[in-house]
This record gives sequence, structure tokens and C-alpha cells, in this order.
Amino acid sequence: MSKLTTSPAWQALAAHHREIAHLHMRDLFQQDPQRFEKFSFESGGLFFDYSKNRVTEQTMQLLFDLARQSGLAERIEQMFSGEKINATENRAVLHTALRNLDKNPVRVDGDDVMPKVNAVKEKIFQFSDQIRSGERVGYTGRPFTDIVNIGIGGSDLGPLMVCNALKNYGHERLRMHFISTVDGDQIVSTLKHLNPETTLFIVASKTFTTQETITNARTARKWFLDRVGNETHIAKHFVAVSTNAKAVAEFGIDTANMFEFWDWVGGRYSLWSAIGLPIAIYLGKHDYQDLLHGAYTMDEHFKNKPFEHNLPVIMGLLGVWYINFFDATTHLVSPYNQALQRFPAYLQQLDMESNGKSIDLDGERVDYHTSPVVWGDAGINGQHAYYQMLHQGSQIVPVDFIASIEHPEIPEPHSTILMANFFAQTEAFMRGKTAAEVRAELDKAGITGPAQDALVPHKIFEGNRPTNTILMQRLTPRRLGALIALYEHKIFVQGTVWNVNSYDQWGVELGKQLARTIEHDLTTPGLTQTHDASTNGLINYYKRNVPR
Ligand code: F6P
Repeated sequence: MSKLTTSPAWQALAAHHREIAHLHMRDLFQQDPQRFEKFSFESGGLFFDYSKNRVTEQTMQLLFDLARQSGLAERIEQMFSGEKINATENRAVLHTALRNLDKNPVRVDGDDVMPKVNAVKEKIFQFSDQIRSGERVGYTGRPFTDIVNIGIGGSDLGPLMVCNALKNYGHERLRMHFISTVDGDQIVSTLKHLNPETTLFIVASKTFTTQETITNARTARKWFLDRVGNETHIAKHFVAVSTNAKAVAEFGIDTANMFEFWDWVGGRYSLWSAIGLPIAIYLGKHDYQDLLHGAYTMDEHFKNKPFEHNLPVIMGLLGVWYINFFDATTHLVSPYNQALQRFPAYLQQLDMESNGKSIDLDGERVDYHTSPVVWGDAGINGQHAYYQMLHQGSQIVPVDFIASIEHPEIPEPHSTILMANFFAQTEAFMRGKTAAEVRAELDKAGITGPAQDALVPHKIFEGNRPTNTILMQRLTPRRLGALIALYEHKIFVQGTVWNVNSYDQWGVELGKQLARTIEHDLTTPGLTQTHDASTNGLINYYKRNVPR
């Protein structure tokens, strides 16, 4: 058994789980009228209610003990101070430096990174101001109307999610497009409607070697040149965001038009870096800074608050409680706000690429579950699709409910109906419906006797299904910044407890390597025989049927 599962804090939690697993939240609420007050608080403009969880005050104390045992406070200090906690890549993890608003230096290998962070930020603001004001124009002198971000994973999901979420704050002349997949569908259908004179391409890739991105960027470049016919105009219409100046230059983008970031920014944590260029262009300096400010507020909260009042710590530990002690294998994120529809997809990469690991920091195989499957969509749609399983299915799925109170520009009764559903769902998940309640309802409906007996088991809701609720006044750049940072730190907390490196992603490599070999196989005539029987069979079936 591992160091973690044999540790005193883990063992204490396991024993405690055996004692309290049968308790129903309905009873816990009844026994303690102060439960809501005890298990809710506000930070960074986010009101957090975790009272509808299968925990007692003792559970929380034991979870905090686990956090202390795992050295969480020291790990937080190490991350913020630039220590190389990404051990397998020998890198610091400093996305927090990108939104650091205090004047203190942040050092990597003895060098303060803040001057270069601030210099790139200034370059971003200057560039985005010029695009927004129309001072920077395309090759025919017309202002830009369409911004196309070409990137994938962390070079796509963050800017895409933020630009969608903050549409109300976006520049009205600018249309934002995000191209990530290599099947050609996105790029072909997007380019079809664009005018090269007024289109700016941002090629975003940390490594600048990602096949999907480079392929899409080449297609965009060809599309542009086919219409414009003059290579010198590329400089006005293509910019790059990368850590790899050499590859950017080789691609044909002048490095003067490159926005730099650094290897201590993980791809999935990079929206705060120059990868956020589309966000800065769309929102403008003021709102973009507000986004960073919101994240900074959450950073300060995470760094300074005792665990007992620390939002990311509590969220992270609750996740550990369900994943490791209740065997919950998935986690649903359910925003009741259409603007946040892409938030779950963003969190999928953030969480699963970070903590989807089974080897710990000592190189040992873990004997406990790590990252859950994170999933979700706009909550109200979920209610009419998969909530059935959440209410009556055989597995526990912890849910984060997220909503804003004010919805500007939305006429009534939309908001009231939305929020009524929002509150109703967490109540239903917690309370459920007992057999007695079902019988009373059926009596009222005139269904009695054997017909009632047959229906009752189907209409019972066990309840006792855990939810967190996050409420904010309004979805502003600042609140969104705080929300994203909250999840980043939650993931850090879990990675620390599980003793895994949350900042590498070796698991994405094998597929990439094999794809390179198979790309060669697909274009080589004759039978492919170098793989297993299934892969050979599929490749050869494809080769026989692909139109040449
Ligand atoms: O394949 C996974 C990944 O490496 C992610 O970690 C990263 O966000 C994405 O690909 C894109 O990488 P890049 O920004 O280097 O193109």
C-alpha cells in the first residue's frame, strides 16, 4: 500500500467514512440550523455554499489534517516563489506571476521574471489598443473586423471560453473565431466568410510544433496569399504567440510580430500569458486587467487564508473525499449561465491533463484514484438530458452549480425561471423524496393499492447527492478571473494530496508519436503490416476506400 493510503490522516478519514457514510444530509440539516452559515462564505466576489455535502465538521477537520499532512502550505509557498515543482520537466510553475499585481520580484533561477512579464503585457496592450481603435489596419488600410485564433488545447480553450463568457464586454466591430481541429471543417467554414483585407490571424502555440496548429496555420497562410498574392502583406495579418522564436521565424512570421511567453507557463494555465492576446483584443486593456485582477484576488486568498476558510482548499478536499472515499469517478460542472457553456470543456483540460496521473512524485504507482472525469454543459440543458442519472442512477456524481444573480439585458421571467431551477436542483439532490412523500403524492392523485405499490420504488429519490453552489453577483471579467483561478488552485490542492505532478502531460505523447508513423503509412502505397492486426486492418481498410 502507498505512503498516502497508509498515512494517519488517510486512515482516519477511511475510519470516519465508515462511521458517517450512511448519514443523510436531510438529517444533518435538521440537526444543525446553523449548517448553512457554517459551511458557506464569500471570497473574490464568489459566494460558496458547501453545506450540501456529505460532511460534518469533523469530516472537514480530518480533510484539513490530510492537507497539512501532505505539506500543502509548503507546496503553495514553493509554487508562488518559483521553485521548480514541475519536477519531470525541471520547470517552475508560475502562471500566478502573470497576474501578480504586487511589486515583489518573482524569481526563477535567480532572475526576476516580472520585468519581462510586464514588458510583454505592455506590448499586448499596445497592439490590442491599435487593433481596437483602428490605428493598426490591414494591407489595404481597412480596420480589422475578424480575429482568427489558431491553436489547440491550452492555446485555444482558455481564450475561447473567456471570449464567449464575456461577450457582453467584447468590441462590437470585432468577430472572434477559434480554429483548433485539424479535420478542416472549422478552418474551411470559417475562411469561407472572411475577407483577407480585414482578417488578423493569431497563430498560438507554446511549442510551435503542434501538428494541428501548424497545419491550420499553413492553410490560413495559403488562403491569404492566394487572395492577396504578396508575401509582404503577411506581416500585417499574421502574428504568433509562442515560447519558440526559432520555429516562428521558420514558419515565416517575423519575430517582431511574436508575443513571447515562457516554459514556466503550462499550456493549460496559459490564458494569463500572451496566449490571452485574443482576449485583450476583444475586451480591451481595462477589462483584460480586471480578469487578471480577479485571478490575483483568488491567488492572495489561496496563499493567505487558513485552510478552514480557503475556497480552493475546501473544494479540492471535498473532491478528494468523494473520489477516494465514496468512489465517485466523475465530476459535473453545471453552469446556469449560457455564457459559461464552454467552461466545463476548459476545465476538462485543466483538471484531467493536470491530475490524470497514476505515477506519484516518487515514481511509484498510486493505489488510489486521481483526476475524476470532468464533464458538463449549460445546466438547464443538462436537466433535460443527463440529470435523470444524477438523481436516480447508481453512481454518485458530485456537481458544482455555478450561476450569476444579475443577467443584464435578459428580460423577465427568464432569470427567475432559470434561478428557480438552479436552487430546485440542489435542493432535490440533497433532500430527495422519501417513500412516504411519494405515497402521499400518489394518494392525492388517486393512485392507490397495488398500482401505487408498483410505482413507489420508481418515484423515490434517495437524495444525499453532493453539490457545491457558487454564486456571483454578475459574470464580470473580475469574477471570471477569480472563478478560473479557483479551479486552478483546487486542482493544485488535489495534485498535492495525491502527490502527483500536476504540470506535466507525458500522456499526450504516445498518440502523437504513433500518428507521425501512421501518417507515413497512409501515404505509402501497398499493404501496411507493421502494427497489430486491428490497427493494420483499419489502416488498410481506409487505404482501400479513401478516394485518390
Ligand atoms: O497535446 C497536449 C498539449 O501539449 C497541451 O498541453 C497544450 O495545451 C496543447 O497540446 C497545445 O500545445 P501548443 O500550445 O504547444 O501548440
